[in-house]
Amino acid sequence: MSRPKVIIFISGNGSNLQNIINNIDSDFLKMDIIAVVSNNSDAKGLARAKKAGIETIVIDTSNKYIDQLLALENTYDIDLILLSGFMKILPKDFTDKFYGKIINLHPSLLPKFKGLDTYKKALIAKEKYHGASVHFVTSKLDDGPIIIQGKTEILKNDNEDTLKDRVHKIEYNIFPLAIKWFVENHIKQVKDKCFFDNEELECPIEHLSD
Ligand code: GAR
Repeated sequence: MSRPKVIIFISGNGSNLQNIINNIDSDFLKMDIIAVVSNNSDAKGLARAKKAGIETIVIDTSNKYIDQLLALENTYDIDLILLSGFMKILPKDFTDKFYGKIINLHPSLLPKFKGLDTYKKALIAKEKYHGASVHFVTSKLDDGPIIIQGKTEILKNDNEDTLKDRVHKIEYNIFPLAIKWFVENHIKQVKDKCFFDNEELECPIEHLSD
């Protein structure tokens, strides 16, 4: 069977992209990244992709950009789209078209703290835990069935940076795991629910790393 073809959307640093590239190199993920797409031409992740020999595409999201996205579909056979620090909301036409094939990484224990500034929000809310979620994408922001979450206890002296460091480490574990499950056909999105080996996931898988 041929290896799944994956497009990864980023906006910035791309440390999760790098982690995925490393997981492909080590053969943990048996798939190929056919392109990295960014709305930000200065994204460090683009340099990471180029260094790995992956094609990069910059899109202009300042106006309606659905046509640029649909052009991807005409150019590539796409099995999976990963949102790996992509800070724009995808148009509904696109999420509908690729329903069940888009997975997002978000730095919070969804459904808590959708959108931006999740570390700040968790600290202000005096949460006991913060973490990251990997979920299938629907047309609603940071919505869609959650596949896996990992959490860390918020410590007395935590600030946004210390918390972010620990959550990133969690992301480096849970994102490749969820991707592997997709690529190996264990998980799928059906009617806004996540199924694992054909059993509906009543609640997200909890990753115990901390
Ligand atoms: C990650 O923490 C990811 O969860 C977050 O952006 C960061 C990207 O880091 N995504 C979102 O906030 C999307 N709502 P990276 O560029 O170093 O991988």
